[in-house]
Amino acid sequence: MTVTLAIVGAGARGASYARIAASEGIATVVAVADPDPVRRHALAEEFGLPADRVFHDWAQLAERPRLADAAIVATPDRLHADPAVALADRGYALLLEKPMAPTEDEARRIVDAAVRNDVLLAVCHVLRYTPYSHKLKELIDGGRIGDVVSVEHLEPVGWWHQAHSYVRGQWAVETESSSMLLAKSCHDIDWLGHLIGRPVEQVSSFGGLYHFRPENKPEGAGDQCVSCSVERDCAYSAVRIYERFLGDPVHERWPLGVLTDDVSEAGLRKALADGPYGTCVYAGRNDVVDHQVVNLQYAGGVTASFTMTAFTALDFRRTRIFGTGGSLDGDGRRIVLHDFLTDTTDVFDLDPDGGASAADGHGGADNELLRAFVTAVATGDHSAVTSGPYETLRSHQVVWAAEQARHQSTVVRLEPESV
Ligand SMILES: NC(=O)c1ccc[n+]([C@@H]2O[C@H](COP(=O)([O-])OP(=O)(O)OC[C@H]3O[C@@H](n4cnc5c(N)ncnc54)[C@H](O)[C@@H]3O)[C@@H](O)[C@H]2O)c1
Repeated sequence: MTVTLAIVGAGARGASYARIAASEGIATVVAVADPDPVRRHALAEEFGLPADRVFHDWAQLAERPRLADAAIVATPDRLHADPAVALADRGYALLLEKPMAPTEDEARRIVDAAVRNDVLLAVCHVLRYTPYSHKLKELIDGGRIGDVVSVEHLEPVGWWHQAHSYVRGQWAVETESSSMLLAKSCHDIDWLGHLIGRPVEQVSSFGGLYHFRPENKPEGAGDQCVSCSVERDCAYSAVRIYERFLGDPVHERWPLGVLTDDVSEAGLRKALADGPYGTCVYAGRNDVVDHQVVNLQYAGGVTASFTMTAFTALDFRRTRIFGTGGSLDGDGRRIVLHDFLTDTTDVFDLDPDGGASAADGHGGADNELLRAFVTAVATGDHSAVTSGPYETLRSHQVVWAAEQARHQSTVVRLEPESV
């Protein structure tokens, strides 16, 4: 059976999944919906879609009888719930971008719609689907380090990635998208719960916006980097960040494709002179955190500490997992297992497919996720889809609890079965 897909939101993510489906030959794109005419038509042309399969809005697609097996909902964060519910009601299987929604009420509406209609819902927690994660899970579940007792996990966002997405970009202002922990690190909170395999009982969190604030603007700095007199000495200069990607086809899609459809030197200059991606990182529009820690206590007293920080290279996450019989040390590429009984180490090289960024499909994770989803749609066997409605709602609840803890400087307890 060839699985057919409707792409809802033909932006960076929607277009990327469509291309993965085509390049891997696992599914056929048969419809697209997006209010942006350039994106809509570009995708329609790329996939040879007839005019009656091209929609200017998800609602227009949802009015029609179901015309694909599955819909990929890759609209902005605040626009997930309505299309997901409407398309589930039409019987589409759903591949839904994370976060499910910024609020628990909306996320529950999505879960209810998927359950009510008995449709497959997979949330794009891509980290779960990599060979690296499968190996870690296999080693833990196979008892290779005894009982997991504590975990230390780092998300190195990357200095320029933070500036791009969370200072200048779409996820800079919480009320326009979601908190940093939900927008970015819901992956990590979800992944930790998946690996540890126990429910979170208590959570605390600290963090804030340390650096990207008006009071840190260097003396003499301008409002746009292209005309700033101190730009050459600024690590966050938009000119410095983006210029190096010109001529690189992968990075012309992301991040350059987010700034402009014209990825020439002149096109970039224009985008930086006129657009939000050329503004000073100290301008003060952004309010999401640039560093945060979350401490988690799971059932049975197992603990984890999580750090998200902007002030790194953009790289794979790093994780150390400490068990009663051994430890695991992973950097997204390789896992080192130390067995206490024999005092020996085993090394597992996982060789991810490309780098850690979205441009590289998160080291092959996007492909793995799409494969698992399409296979589940084609076969009706949903076992490979581990980021379903309940798992995701549960891990989002931990994120919301952590944010509550951070804002109220308190420890938040989670009810055992609140889903
Ligand atoms: N899983 C991951 O690792 C990952 C990575 C990046 C982004 N995301 C998430 O994916 C989602 C999309 O992100 P993106 O970077 O592709 O953003 P984007 O802005 O590039 O794409 C979103 C698209 O949705 C379209 N859209 C807006 N209103 C619409 C409507 N009514 N009907 C149909 N389309 C509509 C926009 O025009 C835009 O083209 C976000 O929720 C984001 O947080 C997930």
